[in-house]
Amino acid sequence: MKKQLPITTYGMQILRKKTKPVTKIDSEFIDLVQNMFYTMDRASGIGLAAPQINLGISLAVIDISAMEEYKSEKPLILINPVISESHGEDIQEEGCLSIPDVRGDVKRAKEVFLKFNDFDLNEKTIELKGFIARVAQHEIDHLNGKLFIDYVSPEQKKEIRKQLSLIKKGNVKTDYKLHIHSGSDNVLY
Ligand code: NI
Repeated sequence: MKKQLPITTYGMQILRKKTKPVTKIDSEFIDLVQNMFYTMDRASGIGLAAPQINLGISLAVIDISAMEEYKSEKPLILINPVISESHGEDIQEEGCLSIPDVRGDVKRAKEVFLKFNDFDLNEKTIELKGFIARVAQHEIDHLNGKLFIDYVSPEQKKEIRKQLSLIKKGNVKTDYKLHIHSGSDNVLY
């Protein structure tokens, strides 16, 4: 049975930590990947990284095929991904399931080459262009403790400050399950 996992929110330390590599693929890991796709889907998300379900491992899933213009794009399972090459730049608005009701403009490469591992931990390389390249860069940032709000302009940062502080206090509502940090969590800022 697939499980909907609560999504960690802005202010939690796990979202700011660099993840550890995945070194073993077992049935538990396969279940985890399934649960991540399920959780992402329930939240109408297009990408989800392991720190967003409170796990410090280098794993992210992407599926943009629910968007009409990208319906032929296949889902991606990125295990230990790194960007090996990037080209061009493009600014687009982004959001994040861990930072509800916040949007901001982010400059990213237009095209990236990724190295990652498949389920046999063999190395693969893929080339991504356009929107899916942006999503992959956002997710790989999550695996390195970075969030899209780190890139927004000082003006935009001012606009989103209030909402960020509400999220940090746990004062946020979504139609998907959230992991709101309690007093015992180590809040970074
Ligand atoms: Ni995100």
